[in-house]
Amino acid sequence: MTILAKFTQLRESYQKMAAIGRDPFSVRFEGILSPTEGVLNGRRTILLGTNNYLGLTFDQSCIDKGVEALVEQGTGTTGSRIANGSYAGHGDLETALADFYGRQHCMVFTTGYQANLGIISTLVGKDDILVIDGDSHASIYDAAKMTTGQVVRFRHNDPDDLYKRLRRLSDHPGNKLVVVEGIYSMLGDTAPLKEFAQVKREAGAFLMVDEAHSMGVLGATGRGLAEEVGVEADVDFIVGTFSKSLGAVGGFCVADLPDFDILRVACRPYMFTASLPPSVIATSLQALKRMQEEPGLRLRLNANSRRLYDGLRNLGFQVGPVANPIVAVALPTKELAIAFWNGLLEAGLYLNLALPPATPNSLALLRSSVSAAHTPQQIDTAIELFAQVGRRLGVLPGMVQAAE
Ligand SMILES: Cc1ncc(COP(=O)(O)O)c(C=O)c1O
Repeated sequence: MTILAKFTQLRESYQKMAAIGRDPFSVRFEGILSPTEGVLNGRRTILLGTNNYLGLTFDQSCIDKGVEALVEQGTGTTGSRIANGSYAGHGDLETALADFYGRQHCMVFTTGYQANLGIISTLVGKDDILVIDGDSHASIYDAAKMTTGQVVRFRHNDPDDLYKRLRRLSDHPGNKLVVVEGIYSMLGDTAPLKEFAQVKREAGAFLMVDEAHSMGVLGATGRGLAEEVGVEADVDFIVGTFSKSLGAVGGFCVADLPDFDILRVACRPYMFTASLPPSVIATSLQALKRMQEEPGLRLRLNANSRRLYDGLRNLGFQVGPVANPIVAVALPTKELAIAFWNGLLEAGLYLNLALPPATPNSLALLRSSVSAAHTPQQIDTAIELFAQVGRRLGVLPGMVQAAE
């Protein structure tokens, strides 16, 4: 038996899925033309599954800053900040993020995944309790595996369940850290953060919000869901990523706790990995500025989200509960979702296929993420392609499954 034998079942189901058409997990673009268009299989393809919410990946000022840093400071830092030292840009970006969120402290990580992994697993010590939403992102679940403390899950977006679980733990002397997300990455639903904040206050717990998908999207200045619903004062830690609205790669955590910086020499996913290259720091810093200077990006994004959400819902598709930039269409079976995804791709539309076990309630999802850079015509084309493929596959109400 080989060491890979345990993956036999996974390999079989993967092969079955790939046999229906293209392999959805190894799509390779021949070219990227803009934030919203790529070349796939020799044809121009609309990109509707990239999390590029503000469309800043081709922003000229971000590119210029990145090139300048690349030329002046080289391609990489070749080590971690505690071993090789920080570059000026790392500190500048941390200061800019702390200022943006009105907090004292910020730590930048090499990815958003590592920010969650590091902050959560380091904060929750062996005598503490980590309390997470059942639909948490993999990075939060992996942090839960890494922590030495007790882990408690509550029902997704259910403040009553959170309250009950915290009440049961009220005699426990350790600190409790509740972790929720601003916008959930699969269905695009938002957390009932006001209610969670109230529960947190009553229980004397700490609250962390992962604003990965809500930074640059929600709130009067783009700070996310906590800003949108007016509970920033109740949020002790905000985690975010540069890989979505800021169009780069990297992650961060901001906080006001006076001793927060001690984590720099305690948090292993910060300490034992190479820091972000200067070019990535420079583009992220510039993207943060662009996001603040141009609130119109957020308005366009939200208008595009509404257009896609309403368009798909009016066709009769089952979409998520809120018109956020993540618009997920649920299909009755995995096989149908795979066939639908292939049909859209053949027609020139790329989005994400999301299948169980990575999805809430084992849903089979076609997951779109809208950008401020999409034109209304691109959104309308996407809706029309959904309609065509939906009719052909008999998914839309009243339609008959076509013989293939
Ligand atoms: C909710 C959430 N948190 C964290 C991450 C990790 O971010 P990154 O891609 O920067 O590692 C993601 C990525 O998709 C996410 O959806």
